[in-house]
Amino acid sequence: MLNFDFYNPTRIVFGRDRLAELSTLVPAGARVLLVYGGGSARKYGTLDKVTKALGSRVIYEFGGIEPNPRYETCMRAVEAARAENLDFILAVGGGSVIDAAKFIGLAAKYRGEASNLFFDHAAVSGLNSSIPLGTVLTLPATGSEMNNNAVISYNHGKWPVYQDLNFPVFSILDPALTFTLPRRQIVNGIIDSFAHVLEQYLTYPVGAAVQDRLAEGILQVLLEFGPRSLAEPENYEVRANIVWAATLSLNRLIGAGVPQDWSSHRIGHELTAMFGIDHGLSLAVTFPSVMEIRRSQKRAKLLQYARRVFKLEEKDEEAAIDAAISKTRQFFESLGAKTRLADYGITAVQLPDLAENLRAHGWIALSEHKDLTPEISLAILKNAL
Ligand code: NZQ
Ligand code: ZN
Repeated sequence: MLNFDFYNPTRIVFGRDRLAELSTLVPAGARVLLVYGGGSARKYGTLDKVTKALGSRVIYEFGGIEPNPRYETCMRAVEAARAENLDFILAVGGGSVIDAAKFIGLAAKYRGEASNLFFDHAAVSGLNSSIPLGTVLTLPATGSEMNNNAVISYNHGKWPVYQDLNFPVFSILDPALTFTLPRRQIVNGIIDSFAHVLEQYLTYPVGAAVQDRLAEGILQVLLEFGPRSLAEPENYEVRANIVWAATLSLNRLIGAGVPQDWSSHRIGHELTAMFGIDHGLSLAVTFPSVMEIRRSQKRAKLLQYARRVFKLEEKDEEAAIDAAISKTRQFFESLGAKTRLADYGITAVQLPDLAENLRAHGWIALSEHKDLTPEISLAILKNAL
């Protein structure tokens, strides 16, 4: 029986050339912490447009947020936010910049040691204020522009921090701002979005027809428009569909009231932490293997995925599931992603350490059934070699 709350307070401002609207979206008189990454936002002129739209507001610029944003970097921004009494954060960038901005906002208001927020779930849920955040998205992938999660790198792990205070007040989604992305980042974004949908869809049926059909629709859009967005990198209409698909993939809509399995992500995060593999690319390795190893637990949904998303008509159900798994792998590979650990030079002897890291980080009962142990994660990794 479906039973859920649905909450999403983020206002989306979608379309071309809408940065000037920051002049009204950001509160008048705000003292703004402007957070950005390694330089793309400056290089391509977005920062100039943003600062112009902010007019006479006080702006404190904090650049240099790295991909897979680090706790220590965030804490330097927290010091600045406190010292300068900043009361609004504007993030210009992809998931890393937006996640960092969320964490900066929470940590600035938290009185204890902010790294507690990675381990102490009571401390996180007890938070009652953060610095409000607006975003200008430059990379469609994570859904961070419309969700309540921030993923921060700390002490050789990647830690999600879920708090409703993390929802941005608004996010500007201008697909044209993503035209400057290198191909690799577009690929990351397509695979990340695809994986977000699958983590919320490929579990077991609960009669959620709306969530299922929405999920299948987003997957089909990514299958159709993903390759086109690589072939036609400045086609606005194509990119606009990728941007909106990415946002809707992880803004709670398709996940409302349904079982979820974040195993591919958790195992992928360890690959990123240990080997520096991009988040999106890590999922191209973990997802096909999770499908194979968890095939019996996911059988009904795998078959539905085969029939509805790929239109596979094999009479034999096992053959249809086999074909759906291969088609998933082929899709990732067709985008140029590697789907095998060996492609990254990773060998069997390195896998037990990865499984140990999952245990050390507390990821010992993963999946929609909470029965996926580090031993099963190891089997998934071995299968991905
Ligand atoms: O740093 P700059 O110079 O800006 O370059 C960035 C960065 O090197 C570049 N880039 C971004 N927009 C660009 C651009 N280059 C040219 N033109 C543009 N318009 O892209 C590179 C990667 O950026 P990043 O923000 O790291 O990528 P992404 O958006 O894929 O974010 C990945 C991070 O999000 C986390 C991941 O774990 C990872 O840390 N995730 C966050 C989630 C969430 N908040 O809900 C969920 C996801 O599953 C994921 O875990
Ligand atoms: Zn992801």
